[in-house]
Amino acid sequence: MSPLNSPRELESKIAALIFSKGESKILLSELASVVQASPARSREAIRQLRRLGYPLRLTRKSIIERLRFEPIDQRQLNANLATERIGRRIEWRLHVRSTQDELNKLKNEALDGTVLVAETQYAGRGRLARSWLSAVGGIWMSVLLRPTWPISHQILPLAFAVATARAIGDVAKLSPVIKWPNDLTVRSRKVAGLLAEASYKGNQLDHLIFGLGVNANIQTRLPKALRGVSTSISHELGRDINRALLAKRIIQEMDNSYQRFESGHASELLDEAKQICSTLGRIVSVATAERKFVGRALDLGGDGQLLVRLSSGVTVPFYAADVVHLR
Ligand code: BTN
Repeated sequence: MSPLNSPRELESKIAALIFSKGESKILLSELASVVQASPARSREAIRQLRRLGYPLRLTRKSIIERLRFEPIDQRQLNANLATERIGRRIEWRLHVRSTQDELNKLKNEALDGTVLVAETQYAGRGRLARSWLSAVGGIWMSVLLRPTWPISHQILPLAFAVATARAIGDVAKLSPVIKWPNDLTVRSRKVAGLLAEASYKGNQLDHLIFGLGVNANIQTRLPKALRGVSTSISHELGRDINRALLAKRIIQEMDNSYQRFESGHASELLDEAKQICSTLGRIVSVATAERKFVGRALDLGGDGQLLVRLSSGVTVPFYAADVVHLR
């Protein structure tokens, strides 16, 4: 037995063994010996993978059966992608801690525009250090960028939210809107979210890693806290969509926005975000780490900050906060 195997590392090993290669059936005891864990721990890992939506069955005779599983079709994703920067290299993983961390491991060799996509994450993260549920059927991806345009990279997440909304519009014929700062919602329910993590060398921006999570074909039951708050494309349409085609469209739209950003068109990109930002004009409650404010969301500033007029008449800019639409 290897004491180094955390339960989560064990899940990854088992998922890789069962879904990346190998037979469609394996005895639990055999699997346990291959991954050097006890049958009990292996059984628990199988249960956890099933909770994440992996199609696995454990028979009474302790045989693990792999059922039909369709990972993102990488050939379709790469075919005619034809982007300039984003997507020049696309890495695929099965089950990782977070695509943000996995891409960060490649940061020294990764070119601007490198993309990493995973089928599932066991510690996916959202904004404000929240956890992000990343079950089978979603599009969980991160993009590493080294922008050369010197200012306003703060608006890139908004530009990428617009790009993602366009791609979802094209492929799924839905019309998501942006809930500030960069959630995409359909019928006021979250269908996608973006996360930006910047890394500096001294005062200089070294690179950015953008994380995008799209609830594409999610079949697992949502935890109680997310019911009525989140949705998925498949739920909205009543059918699954082709994730490779959607991921490809997203990468193409992001690449287009990135090139426009890099050639100095940040303010155009911001205007496009304003056009589909459902927060503007609403009475909102804005929670920062320190306190809560209520007021009317008036506009977005040049860096994408939300400008809110409080009842005192003062207009306050918010750069990072949690917003609830009240009216
Ligand atoms: C949010 O809405 O709070 C942002 C969610 C971002 C989730 C994505 S999924 C891919 C990437 N890896 C992560 O761990 N998080 C982002």
